[in-house]
Amino acid sequence: MSAVLEDVTPAHHRGNGRPVSEERTLASLKVTGRIPEILDGRYVRAGANPLRGTSDHPFLGDGMVHGVRLRGGKAEWYKNRYVQTPFIANPDLNIFDPAVAMDMTASKANTHVIGHAGKILALEEGHFPYELDADLNTVGPTDFGGVLKGSFTAHPKTCPVTGELLAFGYSAFPPYLRYLRVSADGKLVQTENITVGGPTMMHDFNITRNHVIFMDLPAVFNLQAAMNGEMPIRWDDNYPSRLGVMPRNGTNADVVWYDINPCYVFHPMNAYEDGSKIVIDVARFPYVWRTSSFDFPDPVLWRWTIDTANGTVHEEQVDDRPAEFPRVADNVVGLKHRYGYMARMSAGGLGADPAKTSGGIRKYDREAGGWRDIDFGIGRHGGEPVFAPAANPKSEDDGYLMTYVYDGNTDSSQLVIMDAASMDAEPVATVELPRVPSGFHGSWIPASVVR
Ligand SMILES: [Fe+2]
Repeated sequence: MSAVLEDVTPAHHRGNGRPVSEERTLASLKVTGRIPEILDGRYVRAGANPLRGTSDHPFLGDGMVHGVRLRGGKAEWYKNRYVQTPFIANPDLNIFDPAVAMDMTASKANTHVIGHAGKILALEEGHFPYELDADLNTVGPTDFGGVLKGSFTAHPKTCPVTGELLAFGYSAFPPYLRYLRVSADGKLVQTENITVGGPTMMHDFNITRNHVIFMDLPAVFNLQAAMNGEMPIRWDDNYPSRLGVMPRNGTNADVVWYDINPCYVFHPMNAYEDGSKIVIDVARFPYVWRTSSFDFPDPVLWRWTIDTANGTVHEEQVDDRPAEFPRVADNVVGLKHRYGYMARMSAGGLGADPAKTSGGIRKYDREAGGWRDIDFGIGRHGGEPVFAPAANPKSEDDGYLMTYVYDGNTDSSQLVIMDAASMDAEPVATVELPRVPSGFHGSWIPASVVR
């Protein structure tokens, strides 16, 4: 009998789930192809990179941002930086300690990074945003000059018409939900307590030209799980699934709630108004976290159509192939979109072996129907596709898709810049990088927003 050492590395830290241990600044980056001159700004993406090497859950690692500065057809730098949260200063802090959980500066800052009103904000849904400077160094947490009294979502939405940043915050304690409206110049100008049936994990929401739509879904705060030191959220069959439609400058009294079939949505693709209807495309899970906080069935694209005139919601499955991290071009957020882009999973979905499968980008045409795929090749996987427009764009999809691709064959990563209109498998440009671990969300932050 020979003893075989069991690999005790948690599944979420295998492959490209391994954190990196170094913060790096690299100025000479090898580029293949031609970086479009119009791309003047930063592609920045957040992820969980536990300082101590592992975290109990993939959502709990310390926030690290990875950014590439593009200008004048060149990739000027790559930088990865921890967001300097209290967990970096004091790695012994326990996020489930009630005193820590109530400290709104004790963010993991690992979920999303956006540009707004000249600032870069690293976001995580349970706490205050963290401001970063143009070189991705941490400035500190922000409560909008003392106005923000609780958490701030990792998925605020910038209205391309008004420039407002529409947001919300949820909590395990009353008030469970607050609506937050930030002006184009970065002031938190409206806070409204919104009545919901309980403390749910509200990861994202939707905006249209005149409304916001809350997704109150049955992933509910669970005290027992919290006391066990686990992610304190579980699926609850007794909690109704509802969508709440509110005018963007409305109050709790204006919210109209619509029942839908039980499901969970981390991420909508986009929402828009069509007469009396509100159309929402979402990456829908039939449930999440029923047996544990690692319980994720495969998500697929659905469309919800709320008819505000007759009070109904039509729910339609669009595809049966798993995909997540949906995005549209920033200039159609809340407006009618034709195209949506998702991180395409291989057959086998979330359970597939990444070494034997390929990742890619799926582009849905939600007007004419159909889809186009970019396949990154066996052992190569990307993340959320972020759109940046071309110079003088001629159509909604005239521009570029950016994501970090991890190549398991070489254990390194690339920033790939793809042609969104043609969905050509050959990148417009590829920037060679050290390994960038799997992460969550990011943004193209043009120099017009952050110099
Ligand atoms: Fe998210």
